[in-house]
Amino acid sequence: MDIAVLGMGKMGRALAGRLIDGGHRVRVWNRTKGRAGQLVSAGAEEAQSIAAAVDGVDVVVTMLADDAAVRAVALGELRPLMGSATVYVDCSTVSPALSGALSEGFADRFVAMPVLGSPAAVSAGQAVLLVGGAADRIDRLGPMIDSLSETVRRYDTAPLALTAKLTNNMLLLSGVVALAEAFAVGRSGGLRDDQLRDLLATSVAPGLRNRFDSVLAGSPEGWWTVVLGAKDAGLAIETARAAGVELPSAEVVRQLYEAVATGHADADIAFVTDLYGRTTP
Ligand SMILES: NC(=O)c1ccc[n+]([C@@H]2O[C@H](COP(=O)([O-])OP(=O)(O)OC[C@H]3O[C@@H](n4cnc5c(N)ncnc54)[C@H](OP(=O)(O)O)[C@@H]3O)[C@@H](O)[C@H]2O)c1
Repeated sequence: MDIAVLGMGKMGRALAGRLIDGGHRVRVWNRTKGRAGQLVSAGAEEAQSIAAAVDGVDVVVTMLADDAAVRAVALGELRPLMGSATVYVDCSTVSPALSGALSEGFADRFVAMPVLGSPAAVSAGQAVLLVGGAADRIDRLGPMIDSLSETVRRYDTAPLALTAKLTNNMLLLSGVVALAEAFAVGRSGGLRDDQLRDLLATSVAPGLRNRFDSVLAGSPEGWWTVVLGAKDAGLAIETARAAGVELPSAEVVRQLYEAVATGHADADIAFVTDLYGRTTP
């Protein structure tokens, strides 16, 4: 397929690379130029404008930071440029409300496809795709979806796919904070890190177990920034609030990631350990 990927952040680059590996013709665009990196040598065409990127393609994919970015690109320049046969797929983690607005704004051409998994998981074809929209539109994306992952969960609407994404992220974000605090308790009482690893190895979910080492190290290196983590906790809170449900613990979690983001905007969510005073064993 001919595919345009708009957004060359960590996830956009991984997604575009996976599509190139799958034999698709890929054009890429990013607001800040020069971020396509190795993709160009791998075969991507770097477009200098959104118009040049999306001209004549079968699918336009956006993988952008947040609601503001997707609004600016999709509801700004992109919408009037969309060909009638082109499908627009937003893979960003945005509010269910925005995905609803995109469903309306792009009528029968929009599919939401938020992604569970790190950039490395996307590159390895091991991410989980949460696909929301009308079945006939999703079916048209078959070759692209097959190249990205075998694990696909389908939802009847775009907002439901985003709600699923936020449900997953809320658990993970709270879990990383809970892990950092549990380790802080253990270390405070004198347990070594290897004892903490052994102790909790079988009692936490696999997704959280992947985070043991980075949380113990309190490493700022990683792939999911505290800024994006705080954003997702905020989206989860807003989603529940729209249904009349308050999430007091999620609010604390959001504030903790925001606190870490002050001065460390690019740090990974595991850096929340920094709040507990001791970052190395
Ligand atoms: N990282 C993860 O592990 C992970 C996993 C699953 C889902 N996600 C979600 O995937 C999305 C991308 O995440 P990421 O980790 O790739 O983020 P990232 O590395 O911070 O990249 C963000 C991208 O958004 C662009 N952008 C920001 N504001 C913009 C605007 N106003 N107009 C146009 N472009 C704008 C940036 O362009 P510039 O380069 O010009 O700033 C960049 O291309 C987010 O919604 C995130 O929540 C992330």
